[in-house]
Amino acid sequence: MFAHPEREFGETVEAAYARLLERRASGEPIAYILGEREFWSLTLQVSPAVLIPRPETELLVEAALERIPENSAMRVADLGTGSGAIALAIAHERPACAIQASDLSADALAVARQNAARNGLENVQFHLGSWLEPLDGPFDLIASNPPYVADGDPHLDAGDLRFEPQSALVAGPDGLDAIRIIVDQATENLVAGGWLLLEHGHEQGAPCRHVLTGVGFSQVETRHDLQGLERVTLGRLETPTHR
Ligand SMILES: C[S@@+](CC[C@H](N)C(=O)[O-])C[C@H]1O[C@@H](n2cnc3c(N)ncnc32)[C@H](O)[C@@H]1O
Repeated sequence: MFAHPEREFGETVEAAYARLLERRASGEPIAYILGEREFWSLTLQVSPAVLIPRPETELLVEAALERIPENSAMRVADLGTGSGAIALAIAHERPACAIQASDLSADALAVARQNAARNGLENVQFHLGSWLEPLDGPFDLIASNPPYVADGDPHLDAGDLRFEPQSALVAGPDGLDAIRIIVDQATENLVAGGWLLLEHGHEQGAPCRHVLTGVGFSQVETRHDLQGLERVTLGRLETPTHR
């Protein structure tokens, strides 16, 4: 409107634009107003049922892709898939992989399925349920960006987080409840030599490494994001405990 002041928009367009401005002025994230966000070169639909995919999560995708040779038909899981961001980025880069993704929110899965369709990605199956429970393992690689904010963390009352689903953000008194369950389930659902990769908060690297080494993971390391903050911890399981 500023670039082309000679153009007349008419009352309907101006009123619609004013409503969008009001939403933004109230703090609503741009991604929810536009209904989409770019992640790993894919345009993903987002709604208030899903976390808005973050650039930091591309670090998790990079670390996963380093462990999946091109053209390999590895079995991959994405736990807490939300918009489908991680599963779909891996599916796009490794079309021969068979990917399964879970979420506890049916509304989130509906968004994820639409994102698979709009990006023409057919090698991902989406399942409703808790973490690995609805999935059919074992897997060569399990990736997850689970909820990891502590109950009552003041960040929940600021910025975009106010508008995002609490179930996508909060995980117990220290924020590690979901990570502990996922690590536990992963020990029973990885192949020998399989990898687990977890995104977490910038102060959770040490406890995540501790949880992973405590149940027998090796080659445990934490990757830093572009701000230099600990962001992704990963490890390899030589001896799974299949029941
Ligand atoms: C931090 S969001 C991550 C979304 C997406 N993977 C991303 O990186 O943008 C966490 C997701 O975990 C889901 N979730 C929470 N508890 C779950 C559970 N017990 N089992 C499966 N998914 C769960 C939430 O619904 C949410 O979509």
